Amino acid sequence: MQEIQILIVDYGSQYTLVIGRSLRELGVRSAILPPEKASSWLKTNNPKAVILSGSNYSVHNDGAPTLPADFDISGKSYPILGVCYGMQLIAHLSGGTVERPHDHREYGPAKVKVDTNHPLFKNVHEETDVWASHGDTVVKLPEGFREIATTSGIAGMTSVDNRVLGIQFHPEVVDSVEGKVMLQNFLDMTKCEKDWNPTDIIKEIQEEVLKEVGSEKTALLGVSGGVDSTTLAALLAPVLGERLVCVAIDTGGLREGELAELKVNAESAGVKNLIVVDAGEEFINNVGTTIDAQEKRMKFRDVYKRIFDEQIKKAGASFILQGTLATDIIESGGAGESALIKTHHNVGLDFEVSDLHPFRNLFKYEVRELGKALKLPPAVYERNPFPGPGLFLRVVGTPVSKEHIDLVREADKAVTDIIKAHKLEKEISQLIVALLGVKSVGVKGDERVYGYMLAIRAVVTVDFMTAKGYHFPDSVVDEITSACVRHKEIVRVLFDMTPKPPATTEFE
Ligand code: XMP
Repeated sequence: MQEIQILIVDYGSQYTLVIGRSLRELGVRSAILPPEKASSWLKTNNPKAVILSGSNYSVHNDGAPTLPADFDISGKSYPILGVCYGMQLIAHLSGGTVERPHDHREYGPAKVKVDTNHPLFKNVHEETDVWASHGDTVVKLPEGFREIATTSGIAGMTSVDNRVLGIQFHPEVVDSVEGKVMLQNFLDMTKCEKDWNPTDIIKEIQEEVLKEVGSEKTALLGVSGGVDSTTLAALLAPVLGERLVCVAIDTGGLREGELAELKVNAESAGVKNLIVVDAGEEFINNVGTTIDAQEKRMKFRDVYKRIFDEQIKKAGASFILQGTLATDIIESGGAGESALIKTHHNVGLDFEVSDLHPFRNLFKYEVRELGKALKLPPAVYERNPFPGPGLFLRVVGTPVSKEHIDLVREADKAVTDIIKAHKLEKEISQLIVALLGVKSVGVKGDERVYGYMLAIRAVVTVDFMTAKGYHFPDSVVDEITSACVRHKEIVRVLFDMTPKPPATTEFE
């Protein structure tokens, strides 16, 4: 697959993913990464351009996000386009001045005058409608820069060689009427070629896998019912047929109804050969021996690998296929020198047969598009993620037992039903209902109870690299609380609003 041409450094703006989508609409793929991940990605990739996104920070805030480590701000290594905060950051770090003037804050539609002789504004009207959303503004340009767009203040800047650009407004938002023209101009300036076409990518991956697996050998694919593995199955079923052996493990940590859903999804993906391994007891006996998050993950991984080794032998498979994404590899410390945050259950397992990760260069939103192009049902390609170790990660601070998992499963179902009844599913990127192993005192029916707490965490995110806590409406908070405390062992329900970072999406 062609290398990713554009890196978007995500500073947390609500529009970051919209930049990615706009570029894809123009036919170009991009990687969207927060600064710390971007720096390790840049060590092993050579993008044709880098876009610095907007943010809700001011460059003057304590803890304001900054450039990726070792980033070349001169534009010599890669042309740079700073959007909103991205522009302010470039100006601030290159000797310009960023201020928060009282009379120049823009939120919403604005009219901007642009220098139509600059290649970024080729074919753009001299006065054009844009979308702006900022309190800070660049009030003095860095040396060597000139102004190329103006509202009541500086709205665009360029370096002399046109390699470092900044715009204060958001070209990716539809309200910026000629925003797409500007982004296309940037793609032309940076000589990016069209490389996003789901049909081409599907064909490319099918050919790559077929070349590797050959015309006789068998490949094993771990399926979880989630977007990634189901899409991979749908993509490979037509080319490998019966030689694609799909293995689903019932780890004992699945949610209510999940195994049935998995079977339906595998069928809609055209899977001919599905083996379901019932391994709940083995997982609980192994994982339940520790409460340490990382140790639990390692133990989960060991059992997972043992089962796959066994299934590889049974099927006489020569390859193992997994739906691992670029982000999984980055988070597991597999890209450049990025830190190991969590050991994903399926990254870096040392199988005796070759381990193929055909989605290793793709991001979640791209796989969702492939799923759509492969005509999978929306329930599959829109599905929220769920970790491989499942409910094992949702029993926190106390050893996992079957009873604990049953309790979280029941609570998860109750909360999910309430969310569905209020039609809030689309607002939430992922729901986590966890049992906290801290006992506290409660009173039920005039009796003292010494029981556990449940933590409810709903997050909103685009890429799971960063996330924000979701605020349930008050009435829903009450409904969730009373549903959860109905269980005799639960005395308290806590709502966790912590963003990622510093917290991760999961508790473990
Ligand atoms: P965190 O907790 O790291 O999670 O913010 C980011 C996303 O990844 C999911 N996750 C996993 N998925 N195997 C998976 O397949 C895993 O081991 C794993 N750990 C976390 C998590 O649920 C969230 O969607």
